[in-house]
Amino acid sequence: MRILILGDIIGKPGMRAVVSALKGLIRRYRADLVIVNGENSNDGYGITADLADQLFRAGAQVITTGNHVWHDDKVGELLDSRPEVLRPDNYPAGVPGSGVFVIDRKQGKTAVINLQGRDRMPSIDCPFRRFREIMKRLGSSIDQVVVDFHAESTAEKEALAHYLDGEATVVFGTHTHVQTADDRILPKGTAYITDIGACAVEQSVIGFKPDISTRRVLTQLPLRNEVADGAAVIHGLLVESGAGSRRAVSVERIRFTSLV
Ligand SMILES: [Fe+2]
Repeated sequence: MRILILGDIIGKPGMRAVVSALKGLIRRYRADLVIVNGENSNDGYGITADLADQLFRAGAQVITTGNHVWHDDKVGELLDSRPEVLRPDNYPAGVPGSGVFVIDRKQGKTAVINLQGRDRMPSIDCPFRRFREIMKRLGSSIDQVVVDFHAESTAEKEALAHYLDGEATVVFGTHTHVQTADDRILPKGTAYITDIGACAVEQSVIGFKPDISTRRVLTQLPLRNEVADGAAVIHGLLVESGAGSRRAVSVERIRFTSLV
């Protein structure tokens, strides 16, 4: 099973790049399953039904998100009507949507799980314990487990990956938007990367205009970030799991410069 994952899609440049390149990337990497993080696709904040449709038409099968998913006030309808659009599962009970989607492919059943960190993030439920609860609920019928851990802290991400080692096929970090060079397979077979990177304009500050970002730092005012203009770089990960096994057998970072 070859799983192609793309990182946080930032605004129009990220959407343009992913929508135009995804079919080619699926062919090139012979991907069986495609997961993208769409939490910043709506002009940098959140996702809409229209943007989700564009990503599904382009070849995505599951969309994960993060803390910015709540930005659009219609997102509850989207989350409740499209179960393949996830929000972090460890938000308190009663919040719209779900952070778990099971997709059945000829290569097996894959659970895609979206969790969010708590270090310098909203103090939601424990992602570590939530994972265990989810796995208990899903039972033993799952062949692969893919976890998007949307988190700020490198230490929290590495800790979750070790906690899940052997239970998840891959744990990948999102949210910090800069691809890290620490992709590896942990001792019991879980592929891991601290941050998968964003689909965003390269000459930017995590996808946003550098002049506003620097003014925010210099003035300490809550200036609204604006998505940077230009062609985006697509960052992601390709993970292959062994036949009949939840273990990852290979992991490869992806970096692809879009021309649009
Ligand atoms: Fe993000």
